[in-house]
Amino acid sequence: MAKTSSQFICNQCGTIHKKWAGRCDGCGEWNSITEQEVNAAPKSLGRKKGRSIELGLLEGEDAPINRVMSHNAELDRVLGGGFVPGSAILVGGDPGIGKSTLLLQSSASLADQKHKTIYISGEEASAQIRMRAERLGLKASPVMLAAATNLRNIIQTLTEENPDFVVIDSIQTIWSDNVDNAPGSVSQVRAVVHELVSFAKRSNTAIILVGHVTKDGQIAGPRIVEHMVDTVLYFEGERGHNYRLLRAVKNRFGPAGEIGVFEMTGGGLSPVANPSALFLADREANAAGSAVFAGMEGSRPLLCEIQALIAPSPFGTPRRAVIGWDSARLSMILAVLEARAGVEFGPSDIYLNVAGGLRITEPAADLAVAGALLSAHFDRPLPREAVFFGEISLSGALRAVPFAENRLKEAHKLGFKKAITPKQLQLSEDSPLALSSFSRLEEFVEIASNRS
Ligand code: TYD
Ligand code: MG
Repeated sequence: MAKTSSQFICNQCGTIHKKWAGRCDGCGEWNSITEQEVNAAPKSLGRKKGRSIELGLLEGEDAPINRVMSHNAELDRVLGGGFVPGSAILVGGDPGIGKSTLLLQSSASLADQKHKTIYISGEEASAQIRMRAERLGLKASPVMLAAATNLRNIIQTLTEENPDFVVIDSIQTIWSDNVDNAPGSVSQVRAVVHELVSFAKRSNTAIILVGHVTKDGQIAGPRIVEHMVDTVLYFEGERGHNYRLLRAVKNRFGPAGEIGVFEMTGGGLSPVANPSALFLADREANAAGSAVFAGMEGSRPLLCEIQALIAPSPFGTPRRAVIGWDSARLSMILAVLEARAGVEFGPSDIYLNVAGGLRITEPAADLAVAGALLSAHFDRPLPREAVFFGEISLSGALRAVPFAENRLKEAHKLGFKKAITPKQLQLSEDSPLALSSFSRLEEFVEIASNRS
């Protein structure tokens, strides 16, 4: 009989602690550590012999992967070109962001193509899902639907039905009667995902698992099962905005970092084929403090507007507020502008915003941020038909960034005429835009301050 003991596990990142603490060392989350019973594992395998495993070479003959397209262009792109049979896909995101909506739409599309598709909801009653399907105009699709939470019954049903696709909405509501802890706890969620992933591999069924990102310390988040699945997609977006980004953070069958852009409409999520146009749609004419950044998200170029505002500070300590970018990076750019280019911001409040609620992580945005800051500082609009990209180093040098060609092409497609970039761009053909290239930040500042 295995002995049981207890362990303290973080519900957000799965780090195991010796004793309870208010804050997890692993991820820095507060109040996320809970005590859980564990079965003490036997110490070693003992004397019993195993069977030897057959070893192969890298150049073996395997059947090519036959991907299945959902015919939702954005979803297929994020997956690396469609669903891979037998793979396990985790779709994480905040509650209410649109996970169930997207997956119901994709299920319907797959079922319409004669793929046997089962949608199991542990959160909503079948009647609720039917209502949603009616709203989305999907009632006629042959998706097989069930409201269930018991893992044993689910696996039994799936084994009998042998479907091509299964959606489990969500992993936090399904429970295994083999595990003593409450549904949604770390050990339950892990056990549930482990069983479902083994089922996927065994039966060559593609299985899509929904995981809520939770702030509740008692409920395990999707991060703790990321290592168990083949593909991890996160749904992002601001509540106040209509569009949503689906981002591949891990993909065993395609590139990670790929994004899909959707717009939430009355009739569900519709794919956005040209996201740059969407993010630039509301740009004002000749506003000071605005610069267009030619960015990259995965393999896709994406243009967006960076806005800066400099206002006199009513308090002794000026405020630095950033939305959609890294605040440490803003401090760095301000310091470089002051120290290397002699721009004095003085005791002013500085606000930086990426329009549309997008989040940028690329250092390539440095030059666009500097452009927006300088434009706000000198109260002069930047040329409206120009885009910016380039990294700024602490010395004030401008550094080249990857994918310059893709960025320039996208800007050209959207009607831009000019690009402000670092000097050493490696282009294999002529740039479609007129280039103003600088090797140092000071040179750029001089141009920005002299422009009439
Ligand atoms: P949902 O898919 O239920 O989110 P999740 O499964 O991630 O929790 O999305 C719910 C939100 O989407 C809800 O606030 C209403 C909105 N919505 C629309 O705007 N249009 C629609 O057609 C649908 C179905 C939902
Ligand atoms: Mg849902």
